[in-house]
Amino acid sequence: MDRLALLADPAVRSAFGNELGRAIEYHASIGSTQDRARELARNGAGPTIVVADQQTAGHGRGEKSWLSEPGASLLASWTFRPAPAEPGLFTLLAGVAVLKALRPFGVADRGLKWPNDVWLTNGKIAGVLAHGTAGHLVIGIGINVSQRELPRTIADTATTLARAGHDVDRLALLARVTEELDAAADPANREALFVEARKRSITLHREVEVSEAGAAPFRGTAIALADDGALVVETPYGQQRVIAGEVRILG
Ligand code: BTN
Repeated sequence: MDRLALLADPAVRSAFGNELGRAIEYHASIGSTQDRARELARNGAGPTIVVADQQTAGHGRGEKSWLSEPGASLLASWTFRPAPAEPGLFTLLAGVAVLKALRPFGVADRGLKWPNDVWLTNGKIAGVLAHGTAGHLVIGIGINVSQRELPRTIADTATTLARAGHDVDRLALLARVTEELDAAADPANREALFVEARKRSITLHREVEVSEAGAAPFRGTAIALADDGALVVETPYGQQRVIAGEVRILG
């Protein structure tokens, strides 16, 4: 049974928020949890999770939108202050956090596509978005949970926990992801998270095509994950560090 909508009750919200060490703002429907969390950060709010049952204008990375059918995904944004890391680095660490949060539910991950897409065998299951906002780091995560069908535009590359045979309660998943994000924010765990990121990467040692805003795409071999989270790509013209590009795995 999915219990996320219990958060509509202020008493449940407050008890659950106390357990997770932050305020919880729940919306049956909102444009984007990320926009709302960034607004709270700009207004100086304390640690908060904004969570929604439905988004009408969810953002993906770059200029992409994040599509989600009502009631079927975990859609949430967390504010951290001080920022535990630069957005580019924390987005990578948060990908590892999601991967780890899914394991207690029996989800055997295929791995992480740089910088932070969590993949199961049949496609992308989750994405992460990070913004530095008014001294906060705002991290937004979308996880496809119970959809049986996906919109045509993403059906070839995305999957859901339900399609992979997992029946997951979004409230329990919210708690696990929060615990793993807190662990990822602790510098003492940085080294171990990097070991995991490298081990679980499905991008490293593959031929890739990199597209960065305002530049011509280039191809090369992904050879390393730098300590700041950048992907290092070997090309015929030398090594390139990719910080914020889109990467397509060629083979
Ligand atoms: C990506 O892979 O492109 C990142 C997707 C991030 C989606 C989440 S859903 C919750 C939060 N609110 C948003 O508008 N976006 C993030």
